[in-house]
Amino acid sequence: MTTPKWLETAIFYEIYPQSFYDTNGDGIGDLRGITEKLDYIKDLGCDALWINPCFDSPFNDAGYDVRDFRKIAPRYGTNEDMRRLFNAAHERGMRVLLDLVPGHTSVEHEWFKASMRSDAGPYAKRYIWSDSPWERFNGIDNISGYLNGVCDRGTVAVNFFSTQPALNFGFAEPEPDKPWQSAADSPEALAARADIKEIMRFWLSMGCDGFRVDMAHSLVKADKGYKKTIELWREFRAFLDAEFPDAAIVSEWGKPDQSLAAGFHMDFLLHFGDSHYNDLFRDNPYFSGAANGDLTEFIAYYKKVRAAAGLEGLICIPSSNHDMARIARKLTNDELKLAFAFLLSMPGAPFIYYGDEIGMRYLEDMPSVEGGYERTGSRSPMQWDSSLNAGFSSAKPEELYIPIDTDRARPNVREQLADENSLLNEVKRLIQFRRGCEALWNDRAIEFISGAGAGQVLAYRRGGEGGVICAFNPGRKAAEAPFLSGLKPLYMISASKADFKGSVTMPPQSAGFFQ
Ligand code: NOJ
Repeated sequence: MTTPKWLETAIFYEIYPQSFYDTNGDGIGDLRGITEKLDYIKDLGCDALWINPCFDSPFNDAGYDVRDFRKIAPRYGTNEDMRRLFNAAHERGMRVLLDLVPGHTSVEHEWFKASMRSDAGPYAKRYIWSDSPWERFNGIDNISGYLNGVCDRGTVAVNFFSTQPALNFGFAEPEPDKPWQSAADSPEALAARADIKEIMRFWLSMGCDGFRVDMAHSLVKADKGYKKTIELWREFRAFLDAEFPDAAIVSEWGKPDQSLAAGFHMDFLLHFGDSHYNDLFRDNPYFSGAANGDLTEFIAYYKKVRAAAGLEGLICIPSSNHDMARIARKLTNDELKLAFAFLLSMPGAPFIYYGDEIGMRYLEDMPSVEGGYERTGSRSPMQWDSSLNAGFSSAKPEELYIPIDTDRARPNVREQLADENSLLNEVKRLIQFRRGCEALWNDRAIEFISGAGAGQVLAYRRGGEGGVICAFNPGRKAAEAPFLSGLKPLYMISASKADFKGSVTMPPQSAGFFQ
C-alpha cells in the first residue's frame, strides 16, 4: 500500500458549507465563500480541508441524503465552482477532501426511484428489498430501520434516517431461507461497489484529494467482525493506490484497529463507541480545571488500538465535528488552549472543526434545521467579525440558514487575530510549532509517561528517544512532574503566567513541550 507523503504533516480543517461564508447574500454559505477564505485557513496553518456533503440533495439530513452524487447542490454553486476551489486550494499547497456517502442515498435518488418501480430493472437490487412488506430487519447489524408501503415491493432497509435507504453491498452470510439477502460478492453488490468507485473517480479526476467516508463500517450487513466490509474497503484502497496514489481516505468508523486494516489512511476517535474520546473534552473532561476527569481508560484504549493498527495509518482526534457538541461547551478559554496543545501534539492528523479555533459556543436548545436536532447547536454560522451577522452573510438575520450566536461577547476572527493572547493566536502558534518540530509530525511515535488519572499530569514523549515531552496540568493547583527534571521548555502555556524554569512542578492550568 502507498501512503501519500502529504499525510505526514497534514492538519485538517472541517467546513460545514452551509455555515462558513455566504458570498451571494442568500443566508447560506457557498463554495465561493470557502474559496475566498482559503487564505484565512492557510494563515491558521491548516493545509487540508474536509467539506461536509455539498451535493444535490433534498436536505433531510443536511446533505447526507444525496440525490445526485455528481452534482454540486445549486445552493452552494456549480461543479465549476468546485473545480475552481480545488485549483485555488492546490495553488496554496492545500488539499480538499469531499464527503463520500456510500452507505445510502436519498429516497429521491434516481436509483431509488428506479428500484421502487420495478423488481426486474438494473436497479432492482441496488437497495435491500425484502420480499415481504412485513419484514422488519430486526437485529440485523448495520440496518437502522425500514420503510414499507412506499411502493408495491416489500420492505426496504434504511441506513440512518428513514429518508436514507441503504445501498446493497450484500450480507456477510446470507440466510438460506431469505433469498433477498444478496451475498457480498453477488453481481448486484459488486455493481453498487463499481458505481461508488465511479463517483470517486469523477471527483478525483476533477482535482479532489480524497474523501471522508460516511459510516464506512456500515456497508456489508450482518458482518460480525467486519471481515467482508474490510475486504470491500481493501479493494477500494487498491483502486486508489493504482489510480490516485496521492489521494487519502479517512473513515467515520471509530475503530482504527478495523478501519486501518481495511485500508483507510486515517480513522477518527469519535463521541460514540468505546474510545473514551469524550473523557478528553466532553462528559467529565480531563482538560477542565473544574472537573475531575480521568484519562486512564482513554490512554488504555489508545495504546491498544495503536498497537493493533500498527503504524500504517493515522488515528485522528477531532476538536469536535458537525455531529457533536462543540469543544467550547465545557471548557473555558484557558482550558481550550490546553486542549488544543494536546490535539496539536498527539499523533494522527489533527482535525479542527470550523470555529473551534476561536472558541465558538455550542448553542443550546436550537430548533432543529434539516435533520440536525441537537447537532444544530454546533452548526451555526462562522463568526468572522463584529459586523452584521458576524460577517458571515449580508442576508437579513432572520433569513440565515441557522441563526447566529446572539451572545454579545461571541468571539470572532478579526478581534482574535488582533489579540496576541487569543485562542486563535495560540492555535496558530501551536500549529507552527508542530510543523517545525518533526517529533510531533502525524506518524511519529508516542509513549505515555504519566498515568493521567484524576488530578494527575498527562505526559507523553513524541518522536522516540531524544524526542519531545508534552505535559499537561489542567488542574487548578500546581502538580508534581518529576520526569521534567533537567529538561528545557520549548513551548509553554500557563494560565497563571507562572513559568516552568528549572522546575519539576507544573503551574496550575498549564501545558508545555520539553526536550
Ligand atoms: C454521519 C454523519 O456525520 C451525520 O451527520 C449523518 O447524519 C449520518 N452519518 C448519516 O449519513
